[in-house]
Amino acid sequence: MTRSIPMTMLLLWAGSAVAGQPSQTPTPAALWKEECAACHMAYPARLLPAESWKAIMAGLKSHFGTDATVDAPAAAAIERFLVANAGMRAVRSTGGPVPLRITTSPWFIREHREVAASTWKRPEIKSPSNCTACHTGAESNNFSDDLSGTSGGRRR
Ligand code: HEC
Ligand code: HEC
Repeated sequence: MTRSIPMTMLLLWAGSAVAGQPSQTPTPAALWKEECAACHMAYPARLLPAESWKAIMAGLKSHFGTDATVDAPAAAAIERFLVANAGMRAVRSTGGPVPLRITTSPWFIREHREVAASTWKRPEIKSPSNCTACHTGAESNNFSDDLSGTSGGRRR
């Protein structure tokens, strides 16, 4: 009896052959994790609009007081990835500069109203940019943990 090899098995075989190649090009998401999580967590693309990501990628040479340059092909791939997954909040055309920070966005300030000024300055937190100090799921793009009543929240 002759039976053809199921398509799924062929696909699995083809997939493992590709995965076995050592010189496989990393995906844009992998490049982003590699290059943008070296100094802080890789901030999820949805937290800033496309204009902001473009401005950030254009200014990596002097990135918040540090040099965060990435080689040109990787930078282009990362920018495409960030822009494709960017948040919907458009930057208002007030004539001012495009915002480069998540932590100065009106929504961020609103969501973090209950965090006391003294909490932000704690040694284990240091900066509002340090999302992972309070949001344990931040690395996996999850900020919906209930922080009310924790050290990050109302109780000081
Ligand atoms: C060499 C270290 C370094 C690398 C690499 C780096 N950053 Fe940063 N980044 C910083 C520093 C320092 C800050 C400021 C943090 C603070 O204010 O506490 C920052 C802040 C940011 C902020 C603003 C956070 C806020 O306060 O809202 C964004 C967005 C950002 N980086 C994106 C990126 C992206 C995208 C990449 C990858 C292309 C990247 N960073 C790579 C050092 C780095
Ligand atoms: C000092 C602790 C702290 C830090 C640091 C912090 N947050 Fe928060 N965040 C909170 C608290 C408290 C809330 C209020 C809602 C709650 O109880 O989860 C909140 C709420 C949020 C929400 C709304 C969640 C929802 O489901 O409504 C988002 C999104 C968020 N934070 C993103 C961030 C990002 C991105 C960063 C880093 C750039 C950050 N936060 C840094 C404490 C923190």
